[in-house]
Amino acid sequence: MYDVDKTLTIALPKGRLAEQAMERLAAIGLNCQELSSNNSRKLIFEDRNNQLKIFLAKPSDVPTYVEYGAADIGVAGRDTLLEEKRDLYEVYDFGFGECSLAVAGLPFTDIYKNGLRVATKYPTVAADFFENRGVTIELIKLSGSIELAPIVGLSDVIVDIVETGSTLNENGLVVLNQICPCTARLIVNRVSMKLEHERISQIIRALKANN
Ligand code: PRP
Repeated sequence: MYDVDKTLTIALPKGRLAEQAMERLAAIGLNCQELSSNNSRKLIFEDRNNQLKIFLAKPSDVPTYVEYGAADIGVAGRDTLLEEKRDLYEVYDFGFGECSLAVAGLPFTDIYKNGLRVATKYPTVAADFFENRGVTIELIKLSGSIELAPIVGLSDVIVDIVETGSTLNENGLVVLNQICPCTARLIVNRVSMKLEHERISQIIRALKANN
């Protein structure tokens, strides 16, 4: 039976997309100010009057919460969606959080040699990119500061996001190949899209109107 009083749960990514995601939601009346306070460690905000819960999760986990229905909707970068390959709807491109997924390394590195060592937080994206080009690679999974890898000789190249380009620049690295541009997206659980269709459509319409 369809529950008309159901609380809608929204998952937001901690970190570089959080502030703008909260601003966009606040602009359409979904306020989660409590979560954006600098010295707060609070992860979940509940607005009982509006039957709303908003929580902050690790960016790469947001699609997981949405796929399993622990969150009805969420905000995730296209980079994360390409990596996670979760079963969900991607319904709206916010346009903020612009960056590119790219192969980077020391200038003039040959990225088409077989056995290329690739360090990355995006193993699926990296594997797909090189497989499509017939290059066999050795993947080295890292969790952060990926730019260190080619500098200290851990890898030949990295696959990572480039936003301003300053991390590459300050470390003597360059983009060797663009993979794709990325922005923040609104994602929706497949079942919630059916059961909460009106409420979710309203949110999408309001976000588009406020763009
Ligand atoms: C991201 C990314 C790059 C950097 C790119 O790292 O992995 O290192 O930002 O941004 P830029 O082009 O503006 O320099 P993040 O700051 O998320 O931290 P991490 O290295 O711990 O993953």
